[in-house]
Amino acid sequence: METTRRNVFKLGVAAAAVAAAPKAKAAERPTQGMSFATMKESLRFTLPAFPGKCRFMVVGDSHLSLDDARGEPFKQYSERMSKPYRSAIHFRTGRAIASPDGFDYALAEARKMNVDFLALVGDIVSFPSEAGVEYVKKRLDESGLNWMYVSGNHDWHYEGMPGTEMALRAEWTRKRLAPLYQGADPMMASRVVNGIRFVFIDNSLYEILPEQLEFWKQEAAKGDPVALMMHIPLYMPGYGALEAGCAHPEWGAKTDPGWKAERRPRWPEAGHTHTTFAFREAVFRAPNLLGVFAGHEHRNMFAFDKGHVQCVTAANADGSFLDVRVNC
Ligand SMILES: [Fe+2]
Repeated sequence: METTRRNVFKLGVAAAAVAAAPKAKAAERPTQGMSFATMKESLRFTLPAFPGKCRFMVVGDSHLSLDDARGEPFKQYSERMSKPYRSAIHFRTGRAIASPDGFDYALAEARKMNVDFLALVGDIVSFPSEAGVEYVKKRLDESGLNWMYVSGNHDWHYEGMPGTEMALRAEWTRKRLAPLYQGADPMMASRVVNGIRFVFIDNSLYEILPEQLEFWKQEAAKGDPVALMMHIPLYMPGYGALEAGCAHPEWGAKTDPGWKAERRPRWPEAGHTHTTFAFREAVFRAPNLLGVFAGHEHRNMFAFDKGHVQCVTAANADGSFLDVRVNC
């Protein structure tokens, strides 16, 4: 081919296009070049490749134990968990507070901060009393906040009640916790707020169901920055099975000290299902993962694995929450 001036120009354009291609592809990933910084309970994500802004709050482990005469027939199942967390030392003021002050404080702060979204990551109530659920729903409705909820291991659990855990979870989420899902599927749901895709997965039995794995894959494939909200933290190297038990390789009968006190079946000898391990893989394989946000541990824990971050909130019983800002 004769190299004319015109062809050189064309080749030059083509070469430039080839050189630009990887860059253009990288820019399609909204978390490209993401950085993360923490200051106490305030977390800042900077996403240069994402044009949006979002501020959201994560609240978990409020452990409300409100009850009334309607809860009398269930007392044998709620007794133990009705005692702890009735009082706490406020995480900011150091003053003694009584439940549900911690929960109310977080909602008031969320309003003051004008958050775009509130994620409730479970153990908001210590057992599924009608009084507790009604209180939470009323306060959330009054707040005017944009919120979503997923259950923890206590919200639906009446300790010692006969039945399999799967059946009990299905029964009591339906019978009592239903108003907190606002019509969404209790096991898996999502909402996009200011361009961030918030995905809620119920892992309150530590395990992930095949349909939840599929749901995650479909949601993550949509390409928005995706925040995973669950009660129990995912395994991250450095943590034990009690600290980050979902998909932890050592999770199982040998690492379960609480089954007798909580009057539930012991974790299985064989450990996790393949689906649960596959779920963790799929979460950390998502190139658009903003982060995993969880509770359950009652203390702040921030961990990285191969560039992916997991943030665990302290227990809201003492007013604690995570204040998460993306590009703002
Ligand atoms: Fe929990």
